[in-house]
Amino acid sequence: MQLTKNQIIEYLQGANDAALFYQASQLRQKYFGNEIFLRGIIEFNNHCKANCNYCGLRRSNQCTHRYSLSDQEIHHCIEIIVQNNLGTVVLQSGENTREEINRLTKIIREVKKKYPLAITLSLGEHSFETYQKLKDAGADRYLLRIETFNKAIYQNARPQRNLTDRLRCIEDLKRLNFEIGSGFMVGLPGETIETLADNIIQLTEMDLDMIGIGPFIAHPDTPFKNYPSGDYLLSLRTLALVKILNPLANMPATSAMESARTGGRLNSLKIGMNVLMPTVTPASLKGNYNIYPGKNTYLKCDNEILELKTILQNAGFDYSGARGDSLKYLKKNKAQGVKNV
Ligand code: 5AD
Ligand code: SF4
Repeated sequence: MQLTKNQIIEYLQGANDAALFYQASQLRQKYFGNEIFLRGIIEFNNHCKANCNYCGLRRSNQCTHRYSLSDQEIHHCIEIIVQNNLGTVVLQSGENTREEINRLTKIIREVKKKYPLAITLSLGEHSFETYQKLKDAGADRYLLRIETFNKAIYQNARPQRNLTDRLRCIEDLKRLNFEIGSGFMVGLPGETIETLADNIIQLTEMDLDMIGIGPFIAHPDTPFKNYPSGDYLLSLRTLALVKILNPLANMPATSAMESARTGGRLNSLKIGMNVLMPTVTPASLKGNYNIYPGKNTYLKCDNEILELKTILQNAGFDYSGARGDSLKYLKKNKAQGVKNV
């Protein structure tokens, strides 16, 4: 479906929430049915070289207790994912050193030898050569949010980085035939309805396999602590609009939605999202992956996979541990004759 920028702005302003949410959920139903893909996420360390003004893992934040899982601990988390019959593992960290990436590359190779798991990485900005090494080791997918397409807002949020480099990374990942995920935050300081509409349009132009969007949540230990967090309802409208414009993309109900409002993840599923990512990071450490307040702290049970399965069942959804490759990616690779996808 096509929408003009004016139509997008009207929906963002709340012109017709009922129709917007209904259309988005119908599209999810059409392409994915009632099935929610579960992906196990391992936040294997919380070290970061970058210094984003919004994030609790930023280099200069001395209040964050830093941790790094050993090889053995990472393998143990993988076992949990396999035992719970999930087909995808997401390995996430801040932006790490080359040594840490080399260590991870070895682990990816070992895991791929042992299990038919899809491996998704979320490790930030790296060189083409590094991405190539990770792909060669067997990684399937990569998540790198663009955060915002507006240059001024980007510069203010990530002063030591630039948007051009971020876009270059995504181009590199595309060339390497990763399945690609990106997205942005809703409500970064300086955002207007207009720049949000531009984000929606430009993200759609990227023709992505996976799209993750959530509200900016002000973190008390960052330079952005005094800015208002992104609006929950505006984020929900954004998710629905992006789903309508990208019906084939896998879209998670993000934990930032839950931080913004209790039940926010479930509501995101109801308006068309089709992925959930339970954390399998050890319970004693996962609270330290505090990108924003509330992250990793609202589920009561140590086994988030079990807990989310129950929540889904109670809400009338089916859950699936299938690999859940993007429909777009499968179609593209089939057309090009690529095997084993
Ligand atoms: N609020 C919401 N999302 C955040 N992220 C980082 N910090 C915050 C925050 N304060 C998101 C970014 C990043 C992803 C891993 O988490 O979009 O890409
Ligand atoms: Fe590091 Fe990512 Fe946080 Fe930026 S958003 S400080 S790159 S973990």
